Amino acid sequence: MKTSRIPGFYNMSVEDRRQLLKKMQVFSGEKANDFFSEEPLSLDTADNMIENVVGTFPLPLGLGLNFLINDKEYIVPMAIEEPSVVASASHIAKIVREAGGFQTEATDRVMIGQIQVVGCDDMDIAKQALLKAKDTIIEAANSAYPSLVARGGGAEDMDVRVLNEASDSNYTKMLVVHIYVNTCDAMGANIVNTMVESLAPKVEDLTGGKVYLRILSNLPDRCLARARCVIPPALLADKTFSGEEVRDGVVLAYEFADSDPYRAVTHNKGTMNGIDPVVIATGNDWRAVEAGAHAYAAKDGHYSSMTSWSVDEKGNLVGELELPMSVGTVGGSINVHPMSKFALDILDVTSAQELAQVIVAVGLAQNLGALKALVTEGIQKGHMALHSRSVAIAAGATGEMIDMISKQMIDAKDIRVGKAQQLVEAYKR
Ligand code: MEV
Repeated sequence: MKTSRIPGFYNMSVEDRRQLLKKMQVFSGEKANDFFSEEPLSLDTADNMIENVVGTFPLPLGLGLNFLINDKEYIVPMAIEEPSVVASASHIAKIVREAGGFQTEATDRVMIGQIQVVGCDDMDIAKQALLKAKDTIIEAANSAYPSLVARGGGAEDMDVRVLNEASDSNYTKMLVVHIYVNTCDAMGANIVNTMVESLAPKVEDLTGGKVYLRILSNLPDRCLARARCVIPPALLADKTFSGEEVRDGVVLAYEFADSDPYRAVTHNKGTMNGIDPVVIATGNDWRAVEAGAHAYAAKDGHYSSMTSWSVDEKGNLVGELELPMSVGTVGGSINVHPMSKFALDILDVTSAQELAQVIVAVGLAQNLGALKALVTEGIQKGHMALHSRSVAIAAGATGEMIDMISKQMIDAKDIRVGKAQQLVEAYKR
């Protein structure tokens, strides 16, 4: 059985890591050499993906290790430029696996398409007309995308709201139709947009109004994924801090974020540090996931923490995260970008629901990694130690110089490009 515990992976060369992965058969291997080439996304493919292409923009792809989620092992591909994120996720995943791993679940993948209707003579009569025709509207939506219905998905529900009902301005009073669509394993933006665009004439007929916007909502609150972990404090202790101190610090950090948007946004950025790299590596739309996650963090009327941390009756630290997760395992750039196919292969998920669950587990781990560092030694020590390598490279260090100069800067507690340049010059002399 595949394991995500690979002790010493951190210390291996890139080539040795690749060989080990091949040996462990963590991916199917047919095209491994293409994925491991210097330019896995060819210019031809890139030129077919967007406009005005002049090159590609690679990011480091690391592997989050040690993840045990619902008793299944996951090696998690993460595409990110920020040092310490992958290490921190793997560190927390190791602690959580010792406590039994993450427990996750996901709802059906129901996305929302919105249709904006203005200029109806009577908004309530228009609303009733739409609600009366609900079944035929849903049928019409499905006839715009029969292949989705054949895969077991499709439009399944509808509701209608009147916005700014009391207003007498023609610009503010409007009717909004929501079409709820189970998009199966696709993220679903194209599916939903096709459906709502096709419905516009019918909606105009039924309401006597004029349709303007017909577009997916990036707040898919019927497409949720949840992760939970329960950690005995002993697993949180380090050389300087007791497990209880770390646990209490994490809960206090959560309460801070939950009460103050200035802190919440940074706390949540730490959670998204885990989420975005997996979303990116698997070829998904990270702007959509970001937008939905932050909006969901304000669902109770004020912007607050995405995660929650508390202490249970046994004194364990309990972490929870629930987010809308509009990711897919098919469609869009996932089928086009060779690295996303590779990442999904390594991750070994069989559905978009499963991918969504892995992503929220990584987000929860990442948030705890940041909080654990913040309530103990602070993030700068670990962060700057890793960052020192980038600083050395920025100053012109190459090969063995990188490690040497990075260590000299750490020892001197002076991690700056200026310092690194001095050391590079001294090395060359
Ligand atoms: C840095 O990328 C993320 C943190 O700021 C998150 C946090 O403060 O919780 C460390």
